[in-house]
Amino acid sequence: MAGSRLVVEKLSVGFGGLLALDGVSMSVARGEIVGVIGPNGAGKTTLFNVICGFVRPDAGSLTYCGVPLWRHRPHDLTRLGIARTLQGVGLCTGLTVLENVMLGAQPTLRSDIGSSFFGLWRSSREERLVAARGLEVLDQLGAADYARHLPSALPYAIQKRTALGRVLMAEPKLLLLDEPASGLSNDEMDELATLIRSLKDDMGVLLVEHHMDLVMSVCDRLVVLNFGQVIADGTRESVRANPEVATAYLGDEVHESAGKQGTSDGA
Ligand SMILES: Nc1ncnc2c1ncn2[C@@H]1O[C@H](COP(=O)(O)OP(=O)(O)OP(=O)(O)O)[C@@H](O)[C@H]1O
Ligand SMILES: [Mg+2]
Repeated sequence: MAGSRLVVEKLSVGFGGLLALDGVSMSVARGEIVGVIGPNGAGKTTLFNVICGFVRPDAGSLTYCGVPLWRHRPHDLTRLGIARTLQGVGLCTGLTVLENVMLGAQPTLRSDIGSSFFGLWRSSREERLVAARGLEVLDQLGAADYARHLPSALPYAIQKRTALGRVLMAEPKLLLLDEPASGLSNDEMDELATLIRSLKDDMGVLLVEHHMDLVMSVCDRLVVLNFGQVIADGTRESVRANPEVATAYLGDEVHESAGKQGTSDGA
């Protein structure tokens, strides 16, 4: 598929007798934000884990930027141009916000962090360039003012931006976000929605998220899973209007969210 960042075809994953994913096909195009939603146990995290290489599928295929993704492992992702943020923040508490972000430019050297942070770069010139890029990324995320602070002293939303900044340093082609809104207040979630939309550019974004308001305000397209199967794949409007989706999961929540769309669509 032209312009596709990720194509998932007929993916199946079984755990014992249970089919967590049952013939799932979906895609993320360049510059597209795709949300994966569904009720508890629908298979969202399993899909995320297969894409990240944590879980091996029993059947089906993955294609990334036109190339089959086969037997990859989580540590291959950065090299491939795939970035993921996990539910927590996972920052180094002894480093400043900027230094944490700078680590994203040196993914293969992170294990050296115990020896010397500043030893990560081959030269002070390289370090200055990485720092300048780190500040740019923090600025893009609205967190440049916190560059010299230690993350533990900052609001959780800023810590999450720092974690996002770190993965953006590798300039990914595909960004995988696992429940980025967890732990955020409603206002912070609105800011996150604006931020994600400002980021996408030519990157593809896959967003697994429980918070319907965020998904509905930020995603170009939604994939709905239920019992491991795709029951809907389309625009927010088509998903909202899909009775099977309403029955399976969204219920009143989707209609509530639809009522708010007049204000959040432009995010
Ligand atoms: N490692 C595992 N071993 C056994 N069963 C598992 C494992 N991981 C997931 N499952 C099962 O597979 C199904 C899909 O789980 P998954 O975690 O992907 O759902 P989910 O959509 O992420 O749910 P939630 O919204 O609760 O996070 C569930 O029935 C779950 O119990
Ligand atoms: Mg899950």
